[in-house]
Amino acid sequence: MIEENGNIDKSWISFQNVSKSFGTFFAVDNFSLEIPQGQFLGLIGPNGAGKTTLIQMFIGLLIPISGSITVDGKTISRKNIALKRLIGVVPQHMNLDKDLTVLQNMTFAAKLFGIKGKQRDQRIHDLLKLMGLDEYENRITRRLSGGMARKLMIARALIHDPKILVLDEPTTGVDLISRRKIWEIIGMMRKRGLTVILTSHYIEEVETLSDRIVLIKNGSIVVQGSSKELKEYVGSTTVSYNETTSKIAYRFFKDRMKAESFANSLDVDHSVRSLTLEDVFYHFSKEA
Ligand SMILES: Nc1ncnc2c1ncn2[C@@H]1O[C@H](COP(=O)(O)OP(=O)(O)O)[C@@H](O)[C@H]1O
Ligand SMILES: [Mg+2]
Repeated sequence: MIEENGNIDKSWISFQNVSKSFGTFFAVDNFSLEIPQGQFLGLIGPNGAGKTTLIQMFIGLLIPISGSITVDGKTISRKNIALKRLIGVVPQHMNLDKDLTVLQNMTFAAKLFGIKGKQRDQRIHDLLKLMGLDEYENRITRRLSGGMARKLMIARALIHDPKILVLDEPTTGVDLISRRKIWEIIGMMRKRGLTVILTSHYIEEVETLSDRIVLIKNGSIVVQGSSKELKEYVGSTTVSYNETTSKIAYRFFKDRMKAESFANSLDVDHSVRSLTLEDVFYHFSKEA
């Protein structure tokens, strides 16, 4: 919430020592994170890092075995309906009703939140228009392209005017043009003041959109910061070279001159370039 003195609450959303195990395996392990209101948070990590498990706990679908998750000081739970109404979710897997039309999927979602009458029709119309789906409202959902289906999932997640939008890999399997359009739409949501939590394995997506990026691995935070901070943490310059004929190796340098002198000492094919967020991801993901 915006506090009375006008300051943004820096720990509006708070994960406190959250863990979740399946049997003896910890998918999320003592995870703590605070998200200020209005922030766009990007969550990246290799497959199996625990991103979806975190999101499912955040939306009350899974219960942590320890720790707690709060929004504005109130604890998320299966029963806290008022809190759930603050959140709009785009899950990782398609869960639209494929036998319904676009409009029927939206109407069904509106009914779940008790949105009725003219207000409902107006809201659905506005959201479908925003997503560029207004011309397809009578199309059966199974006939939508992957990109259109994802856009419909985003429209549906926004039906009850949530304050927090959670998107779990929203552009997986979406063509390039639709992906960029989806970036535009979720970027717009952030500008409208929504707090956004996005998981993705498209580094460019996370880098383009996020104010802050959290890299997770084995259910814990490895490193977090802005894209610039994360890059500076690893270095400024990348030298890639053929370690063997089939294996490319990477070395990261804080100092470009050192990178160049290292590159000059190599007698194999190599290249020197600016360090990217993908290098950061690679660096931390491959470390044991
Ligand atoms: N219901 C479940 N039962 C057992 N293991 C699970 C279950 N859900 C997730 N896992 C495991 O927890 C780990 C984290 O999964 P997930 O949160 O889906 O990762 P991510 O979304 O980052 O790819 C994975 O190793 C996955 O196999
Ligand atoms: Mg996942």
